[in-house]
Amino acid sequence: MINSNFYKKLGLDEDLLNAALTRFSEIKDVCEKQSRLLLRGKCKGVLKLDFISRLAVVLYSLPSVYLNYKEKGIDDKIFFDTFSDINIWCANAFDQYGEKGLENIHWITKHLSMKIFRIGRLQFEFSRFLILPHAGIKNIIRCPYRLGEKCITLHIPQGEKLDNDKCIDSLQRANEFFKKYYPSYKYRCYTVITWLLNPDFRTVLGEDSNIVKFANMFTLLGYVPDSDMNERRVFGYKKDRKNYSPENALQRYTLERINKGKPLLSYNGFVKKNLFNP
Ligand SMILES: CC(C)(COP(=O)(O)OP(=O)(O)OC[C@H]1O[C@@H](n2cnc3c(N)ncnc32)[C@H](O)[C@@H]1OP(=O)(O)O)[C@@H](O)C(=O)NCCC(=O)NCCS
Repeated sequence: MINSNFYKKLGLDEDLLNAALTRFSEIKDVCEKQSRLLLRGKCKGVLKLDFISRLAVVLYSLPSVYLNYKEKGIDDKIFFDTFSDINIWCANAFDQYGEKGLENIHWITKHLSMKIFRIGRLQFEFSRFLILPHAGIKNIIRCPYRLGEKCITLHIPQGEKLDNDKCIDSLQRANEFFKKYYPSYKYRCYTVITWLLNPDFRTVLGEDSNIVKFANMFTLLGYVPDSDMNERRVFGYKKDRKNYSPENALQRYTLERINKGKPLLSYNGFVKKNLFNP
């Protein structure tokens, strides 16, 4: 049986952890039922619960996910790194809504159903190749990957600098991870959809910035307006516009576009699977 040290390894705030563990003893039946669904990637029922109850169901589900990891032989380190994201999303929920617990259950369901893993600095998700609007016909023709083919989408968790060596290490380790634990999953590239690939950042931040070095690893393939997410990522989840006072070039750029009514964009990029292998 898993003891409370297991949950402590997630790095959750102690009061929050205790509140969620208390809630899960109060709503055990709900947790049991919803947990079975979460493990299969279904979170509709949990969306009806308040944030502490959502967190309770997630914590209740974790021992089963841990067993699934153990069955595959996946390292404890990958498990706890992957689920340290709960911490990040509880903090974002508190900033945005002032409520303790977990709001973004859609996202954490991907982790519970083993669709996403954190390997080093980055997260990796089983996915299909996408082409966003404005990709340009020449780029689409030149692109070596087909719309809808299997790929791995990567994500960039907040919480630490985007050190380029760590990103490359992550990509190399992801190759090994998927080869070892998911050998039948054949894919040829990694993709990403993020505001970090904005080509304007080359002049705004300079070539030495982590964000620009990260962006330089990818070939672009289209973009979409994504103002809300961009703004939250740069000014915080509260979106308290009257108190914005830009402290760096990135915030100045973002605020200037907001004030001019220009959309903030997210870009699609791809990189060949083995590009960074030694
Ligand atoms: C991705 C991330 C770690 C990059 O941070 P980084 O390693 O500091 O990036 P850079 O070195 O390129 O930063 C250049 C400058 O922009 C600032 N900056 C970077 N990201 C910032 C952010 N999200 N908000 C405000 N300022 C930021 C840095 O502090 C630095 O300022 P300085 O020149 O005054 O020191 C950071 O943006 C982040 O945590 N983002 C949240 C997660 C995210 O957006 N994921 C992608 C989701 S699609």
